Amino acid sequence: MELLKIENLCKTYGKGENEVKALDNVSFTVPKGQMTAVIGPSGSGKSTLLHVIGGVERPTSGKVFLDGQDVYAQNNKNLAIFRRRQVGLIYQFYNLIPVLSAEENITLPSVMDGRKPDQERLEQLLKLLSIEERRHHLPSQLSGGQQQRVSIGRALFTSPQIILADEPTGNLDSKNSAEIISLLRQSNREFDQTILIITHDENIALQCDRIITISDGKIVRDVTTGIK
Ligand SMILES: Nc1ncnc2c1ncn2[C@@H]1O[C@H](COP(=O)(O)OP(=O)(O)OP(=O)(O)O)[C@@H](O)[C@H]1O
Ligand SMILES: [Mg+2]
Repeated sequence: MELLKIENLCKTYGKGENEVKALDNVSFTVPKGQMTAVIGPSGSGKSTLLHVIGGVERPTSGKVFLDGQDVYAQNNKNLAIFRRRQVGLIYQFYNLIPVLSAEENITLPSVMDGRKPDQERLEQLLKLLSIEERRHHLPSQLSGGQQQRVSIGRALFTSPQIILADEPTGNLDSKNSAEIISLLRQSNREFDQTILIITHDENIALQCDRIITISDGKIVRDVTTGIK
């Protein structure tokens, strides 16, 4: 069953001579439970693609369907609810709330949804991500890698349908990086979670089920690795 369907997606920034076509007529589908790597040169449109899929950045034209739902046909209030409940977005530059502690950042989507955060899940993630001892620290008191792990915890906390990870190991050493990838793989296998992961690391891409290559806002290559 296809979970994600993208139709003729275009995203243009700026006007006139400053115009940048970040996404240029991108279409593809992703079946439920697939772990896909998105690779391509810097500035090719990878982060833009993830933000558009995640309901964060409205496309200039084209459509995004998640689980049959036309994402941008919703009003802004429902779009915000959609983002909180259905999508786990791991930002390239973390996007943590500076005045909240590590654990408050992780449970934020749940709290904003008016729910009582699942304490057991929190403990499990803090442990898995090795940030238990830093749980009460503010983002400014954490290293880049620790902030990255907090942002991963926030994305995984509510076990959303789709995880969109923008270079989730860009700031981690090889040991931590391998652990994060295996954590994502584990949550993909156990919960049939669909994952899109942007990476510059060929080893990570090769561990995914499929590799999509983007160049100048277009898909130039799309291969399945045959792992799964
Ligand atoms: N908010 C914005 N305003 C104007 N231009 C933007 C904006 N965001 C991105 N762009 C431009 O869109 C293009 C695609 O950017 P994007 O961040 O998606 O690239 P990327 O593939 O993620 O690059 P990197 O690997 O360096 O993270 C770039 O040319 C970038 O300069
Ligand atoms: Mg990027």
